[in-house]
Amino acid sequence: TLRRFHLSEDYGFLLPDPLTALPAPYGPWMEIANNLPHLIESHQLRSQVYKMPQLSCQHLKGHRDLQLAHLALSFITMGFVWQEGEKGTVKLLPQNLAVPFWEISQMLGLPPILVHADFVLANWKKKNLTGPLKIENLDTIFSLPGGDSLRGFILVTFLVEKAAAPGVKAVVQAVNAILQPDKEALHEALQELAKAIKEMTDALKQMHDHVDPAIFYAVIRIFLSGWKDNPAMPGGLIYEGISDEPMSYSGGSAAQSTALQAFDELLAIHHSKESTAFLHRMRYYMPPHHRAFIEEIQSASSVKQHILSSRNEKLRVAYNQCVSALVDLRTYHIAIVAKYITIAAANAKARKGKPGYQAGILQINPPSSLEEKGTGGSDILSFLKSVRDTTRDAIIHV
Ligand code: ALA
Repeated sequence: TLRRFHLSEDYGFLLPDPLTALPAPYGPWMEIANNLPHLIESHQLRSQVYKMPQLSCQHLKGHRDLQLAHLALSFITMGFVWQEGEKGTVKLLPQNLAVPFWEISQMLGLPPILVHADFVLANWKKKNLTGPLKIENLDTIFSLPGGDSLRGFILVTFLVEKAAAPGVKAVVQAVNAILQPDKEALHEALQELAKAIKEMTDALKQMHDHVDPAIFYAVIRIFLSGWKDNPAMPGGLIYEGISDEPMSYSGGSAAQSTALQAFDELLAIHHSKESTAFLHRMRYYMPPHHRAFIEEIQSASSVKQHILSSRNEKLRVAYNQCVSALVDLRTYHIAIVAKYITIAAANAKARKGKPGYQAGILQINPPSSLEEKGTGGSDILSFLKSVRDTTRDAIIHV
């Protein structure tokens, strides 16, 4: 079952061993993509992009080339749009970038913007190929401004997805156990799932060691934000050569992580109408096979019904452990957002106009359009709290 949904036993939704180089004709893309922090900070990216030749997609061979090309062009696009901050945006993505990015996106079934599947799932490599999957031995393929904090943000999120992998396998085992039906196998699968969710929370804790809140808030976030539900880009973006009408796409969001949405479906956790609408819309920002996996679980899973009607105490406890672990993960996520967005915003305001403020990178004005919004356009804290609270409501009481 896992293969059918482009899932790997070891890596879950992560792309196993992504390519890091495109065929030779794509040198002009790679030269720019490999040099983004410098080109953006020195305000040269836009002029470089205007000079880029318009390349056809015919030399991209197969899925892995396409994934790397989407990753490269999505990073270039975010840099291009946000190079001058929220007050210096553009209305139009030039044809030499927009047309191939559009075509590649169509072939992959992804929107023409940076998504979680680019930023995290496909943007990693090992430094030492025989070394472990630890942050010290990992690097990103492409980067944006933000230095070590940007790298840390991507790679810690990578490790959360890696920790989810045994949980994804457990989801499949749980669905199969119901079909059998096999209570022992279901019990085991639920225990595996609870354990994986706890390990995701542990992985997320590494954010504190690798991401500086001031840099995340003032420098990094804007590059992940999109042109939908964003007051800095109210009109959307024209993809020149595709359509004369501007189009709106949401920025990156953890709601684009398939693992969390798959767990919710397995456990029959129901969120509020508004949160569900956002979560379901974000499924169209996932690779189609991953979206299909969620839909399959949604239609196949009657885990909760099964547990309720079996009145099996062991199963009830194991189910509740999964739900509690998800509540804890979501509570932890809220704490991270409080530190990296809410408190970082207050600190940035307090620092403004103070002596010493002029020094270094922190003189950058953080984007005011993202003060209370997630980069995906949600009302971030109320969204996360609503999702956490409805998760808690799923607990089965005796
Ligand atoms: N969605 C995260 C944010 O809003 C990345 O900063």
